[in-house]
Amino acid sequence: MFRHEKITLPYLQITDYPQLSWRGLMLDVSRHFYSIEALKDIIDLLAYYKMNVFHWHMTDNEGWRLEMKKYPKLTSIGSWRKEIYGSKMYGQDSSLNWKDTYRYGGYYSQEEARELVAYAAERQITIVPEIEMPGHSGAVLAAYPQFSCSQLPQSVPNSALFNKYNPAPSPNQEYCAGNDSSFLFLQDVLREVMSIFPSPYIHIGGDEVDKTQWKQCARCQKRMQDERLADESELQSYFIKRIARFLETNDRKLIGWDEILEGGLPKNATVMSWRGEKGGIMAAHAGHEVILSPSDPFYLNRYQADPEHEPYAAKYSINTLARVYAYDPYPRALTAAQRKYVKGIQVALWNEFISDRNHVEYMLLPRLPAAAEVAWSKPENKNFEKFIERLNLGHFQSWSWKGCPPLLYTLNSPFLPFLF
Ligand code: ACM
Ligand code: ZN
Repeated sequence: MFRHEKITLPYLQITDYPQLSWRGLMLDVSRHFYSIEALKDIIDLLAYYKMNVFHWHMTDNEGWRLEMKKYPKLTSIGSWRKEIYGSKMYGQDSSLNWKDTYRYGGYYSQEEARELVAYAAERQITIVPEIEMPGHSGAVLAAYPQFSCSQLPQSVPNSALFNKYNPAPSPNQEYCAGNDSSFLFLQDVLREVMSIFPSPYIHIGGDEVDKTQWKQCARCQKRMQDERLADESELQSYFIKRIARFLETNDRKLIGWDEILEGGLPKNATVMSWRGEKGGIMAAHAGHEVILSPSDPFYLNRYQADPEHEPYAAKYSINTLARVYAYDPYPRALTAAQRKYVKGIQVALWNEFISDRNHVEYMLLPRLPAAAEVAWSKPENKNFEKFIERLNLGHFQSWSWKGCPPLLYTLNSPFLPFLF
């Protein structure tokens, strides 16, 4: 996106440093798949705005996206589904775009993933991989049903989201927490993941676990008895703690969504707070590191302006540029001493409705630079009007040079007034 010709600057000295050490973007490549070339452009964009973490959400119910040498069915089966949904890009019609049923998917080879890690490292960006567990694992369980509670054959789900084209969404899918082979499998997977990603943090998901299957499963119930666990929340905590110990013996740190607080947080775990700030505040009170990624205003898959004029998107809140910019990364409920646990902030792009890379860029811009400024600048140095002035000094134009739909980004765009 910003691979400019070489330019020369006169001698100068700049003293600057960021307020927060984790300045991240999460990208979901499970619900839709993007080429390595598209991801390199996103890494360029992050580097341009001095963001330094690319959180790569590589697995979910709707597709597994990383080659695993020991478990080839993860990609031969788990990376492919019948595509039935998508969204129109150009806002002529904000309804969903029926995409018909055809084989959809893809995955990254380990070589490609290593190449992206190196590409990012050259730009001072750490790639934090996310391997979801114990929930959001439908694609794995389609490939290896023996790790589910029912152990019955199943297919890779199309979408967990309810909409007019998907009236019977598939439920979230969990690993069986009573089966030791689930853990042995995950340890094998994490070993391969750690061999590709040098990141000190490994993200293990942990969110939105549907415990219905665990309640009905004899193995899960036996585990609860054997380990004296009071309920399924403690079973979830048992699961996460067992994985945390494994990561720790490999000198890596566990990070997970704020549900990992339920039933007790593993020692040294970092919490990524997405259901508002509550989880982050609880974690900081307990002396754990926190990344704040509250869905309101940091989920960039939500509308950014006027739903009437935008591609179909998640409706829960309208996360305007101004609201992203205004975010204060230090919740008032933290004491001065507890503020040090806030390691950073992160914006997130979930891609249920985002099937092409231009649409990804449309959702990221111009909100990504606003998030970068939240992470970089102290509140007293922020000024929204000046930020807009700076964006107008060429940023909008430079995005439109590189495939972003010009209509949405030029200063004459009819969409522009809605952004502010
Ligand atoms: C999440 O949005 N389920 C982390
Ligand atoms: Zn079970």
